[in-house]
Amino acid sequence: MPSPSSSHVVIFPFMAQGHTLPLLDLSKALSHQQIKVTIITTPSNADSIAKYVTNHPDINLHEIPFPTIDGLPKGCENTSQLPSMEFLLPFLQAAKELREPFEQVLETMIKSNTPPLCVISDFFLGWSLASCQELGVPRLAFHGMGVLSMAISKSSWVHAPQIDSLSMFDPIDLPGMRLPFTLTKADLPAETVNSSNHNDPMSKFIGEVGEDDAKSWGIIVNSFKELEENHIPSFESFYMNGAKAWCLGPLFLYDDMEDLEKSINQSQISSMSTQWLDEQITPDSVIYVSFGTQAAVSDSQLDEVAFGLEESGFPFLWVVRSKSWSLPRGVEEKIKGRGLIVKEWVDQRQILSHRATGGFLSHCGWNSVLESVAAGVPILAWPMMAEQSLNAKLIVDGLGAGTSVKKVQNQGYQVLVSRQAVSEGVKELMGGQKGRNARERAEALGRVARRAVQKGGSSYDTLSKLIDQLRRC
Ligand code: UDX
Repeated sequence: MPSPSSSHVVIFPFMAQGHTLPLLDLSKALSHQQIKVTIITTPSNADSIAKYVTNHPDINLHEIPFPTIDGLPKGCENTSQLPSMEFLLPFLQAAKELREPFEQVLETMIKSNTPPLCVISDFFLGWSLASCQELGVPRLAFHGMGVLSMAISKSSWVHAPQIDSLSMFDPIDLPGMRLPFTLTKADLPAETVNSSNHNDPMSKFIGEVGEDDAKSWGIIVNSFKELEENHIPSFESFYMNGAKAWCLGPLFLYDDMEDLEKSINQSQISSMSTQWLDEQITPDSVIYVSFGTQAAVSDSQLDEVAFGLEESGFPFLWVVRSKSWSLPRGVEEKIKGRGLIVKEWVDQRQILSHRATGGFLSHCGWNSVLESVAAGVPILAWPMMAEQSLNAKLIVDGLGAGTSVKKVQNQGYQVLVSRQAVSEGVKELMGGQKGRNARERAEALGRVARRAVQKGGSSYDTLSKLIDQLRRC
């Protein structure tokens, strides 16, 4: 279908910040390679996307209306607006209603003789495969997660009946996989563990989109070869029908390429958090704390973090999503001048690349992991949901670029921590020998990550090959 001279790609992100951002970065990477991009999104997501891709005249937005359906709060077009993650499934079902307007956009492109080279859509939008097949356009699924976590999830899915019979902390042996750590059921995403229960709707959904992945032209992964090289063959064998996994990441680094030096050594945006970081004189002295965009952290756990940070004695910059939570009595006085708590969206990449930032207490969402690695900052891992425990094990046990907060209790899949665990974890990462070793590893990985997206680097070359192959198919 695409003509050899086609240089146009359609990108369709899922409406969740952690899913959308890397695809916007991919759009920028494609525009650096002289590819025009049309991003499909819904009206209330369009503004923030437009701001992110401003200065890129080759990237256009096409809005399609988000449906109103029963069971979903009106006007909710992004998972960040969901009252709780219990609404995720109705949201995913509502997104399926985008099929017709999506097909109309593609049809118009085809009729006007400008068919796209391919559609790159989030794996949650698996239904877009059927549209692409009908209209003869190759579909690539996008996964904003790591290769290893996806390979483990897929293999566990296949072996669910055997895993079912194990207790929570029995080691799991996955045939055909060489894991760099001991895997237990407690590390697996909840929907994977439930996968032998075919009545679980989320597991069913994950099964369906997994099948769509396998029938797609390929899968794009926001990772880089050197980080997860050993796991790519098992990933491809579990997910694909002889198709390929394209590791193009870290995608956000393409955007920084021109002023990489500047963005690594000094802050560009004058915000409260970067100004505060500028005032911290000692390099690598601040622990940055953030738990991403989705995980719900209870007020009592936020209290434990507050006490733990206070007890650790280290300077900290903490982004808190909860608007209602406030510091426990007495803590405010004690941390004056030593800690900054921000309750608004920050530029996390800027913070991580600031010379004062020396550690990251993180939930280990894949974007945060990649951003930390790319900035050479070691992670203090406190995984909370989804595949985050697998990411944490990769970074701590597999790559040696982090340490873990001691779990106090596993409540279902939610790992709870205490103030002592936070305080000891921060001290170890920021001032202990283990932390020094982890920083060295993180810095080395950061150098490799930045090389991967430069001309001749593994991700850069893979992106060029991908465009080349699409032009020839
Ligand atoms: C979700 C899933 O929970 C996770 O398991 C999966 O790996 C990715 O999607 P999320 O909570 O969105 O994770 O965290 P993360 O993957 O770390 O993504 C958050 C993104 O938002 C990062 O790119 C981070 O830099 C950005 N962010 C977040 C900011 O820039 N500023 C903020 O204030 C908060």
